[in-house]
Amino acid sequence: MRTKAMVCHTFTDPPSLELGEVTLRAPGPGEIVVAVRAAGANYVDALICSGRYQLQPALPYVPGSEVAGEVVALGPGVVTRQLGDRVVALTGEGGYAEVVVVPEAAVLPLPGGLDEERAAVMLQSYGTALFTLDERCPVTRGEWVLVLGAGGGIGLACVDLALARGARVIAAASDDERLRAAAARGAEGLVRYDRDDLKDQARRISGGGVDVVVDPVGGAFSEPALRALRPFGRFCVVGFASGQIAKVPLNQVLLGNRQVVGVEWGSWVVANPDGNSQLLSRLVGMVGRGELHPAAPTRRPLPEAGQVLGEMLSRQVIGKVALVTRPEGA
Ligand SMILES: NC(=O)c1ccc[n+]([C@@H]2O[C@H](COP(=O)([O-])OP(=O)(O)OC[C@H]3O[C@@H](n4cnc5c(N)ncnc54)[C@H](OP(=O)(O)O)[C@@H]3O)[C@@H](O)[C@H]2O)c1
Repeated sequence: MRTKAMVCHTFTDPPSLELGEVTLRAPGPGEIVVAVRAAGANYVDALICSGRYQLQPALPYVPGSEVAGEVVALGPGVVTRQLGDRVVALTGEGGYAEVVVVPEAAVLPLPGGLDEERAAVMLQSYGTALFTLDERCPVTRGEWVLVLGAGGGIGLACVDLALARGARVIAAASDDERLRAAAARGAEGLVRYDRDDLKDQARRISGGGVDVVVDPVGGAFSEPALRALRPFGRFCVVGFASGQIAKVPLNQVLLGNRQVVGVEWGSWVVANPDGNSQLLSRLVGMVGRGELHPAAPTRRPLPEAGQVLGEMLSRQVIGKVALVTRPEGA
């Protein structure tokens, strides 16, 4: 089977993807073929295609780790999905295409009431959020959570999930538009960390110190965020969107008996497929019940994928982008 796809032939910075055709294997036992209606553009796709990610896939490479679409073929033994089902899927790679082959466990029903674009961008960001704030660092009602990069994909999802768990949220970001996005999601405290003192503001708003920091940004903001933790507070290391891995003074971990929690959803998914299936089912259930609110992404045509990834790397994207395979209204 052949499919049109956006293909990375060389690692370049900014990324350059070409529209081409690739051969798709037939679905094996327990595999499902999904016709892609929308694919989520993620920061990690941009890192991979620019050659800046810790792992480099074989070339040519078709990015795209999450999609929404329709089931169009079933491999032998598939029992949970049927032809014509509208689904969301965690594809790993290959999602920037018209068609993708996915293991059955990674294909979930489209949550009721959710359009395909919102659905296409929710699995990576909300999956990481659930892994962070449910699995690695469970957050409880009334705790203060400080979210860095709060206008980004993972940031907004963590704001939403923390609130769903009854926590109080301080959003930190580098401009007013990003903070407005976090405020619209429900963040109570807002800090412009490019301008204001992050530690002082977070301590002031929380009345002495926050319980949890979620850090998908790294760089210069990690240390003041760590210093904003109250005794026994937890610091979640989620990512380094700034491109800089922060080096923090460990006395700030010792003082106040703080904890630093590593968060690597990807390796956990591989080691715990059953646990991840439960996590994804929980996510789809929470979205379906209206407890989580994936934001409407910006809609861009799939052939603009390379340009979108470049915009992500140069900090021009707010919230999420869905790459759609057919024009509006088609
Ligand atoms: N640990 C895990 O399991 C896991 C899973 C998925 C992704 N990640 C990682 O988490 C990070 C964030 O992902 P995301 O999807 O939230 O990305 P995103 O939507 O692009 O948001 C990243 C945020 O980081 C901030 N930022 C600071 N410096 C930046 C720079 N030089 N370039 C771009 N953004 C910059 C921006 O906010 P401000 O401008 O407001 O600072 C931006 O909103 C990435 O590094 C990704 O690889 C980790």
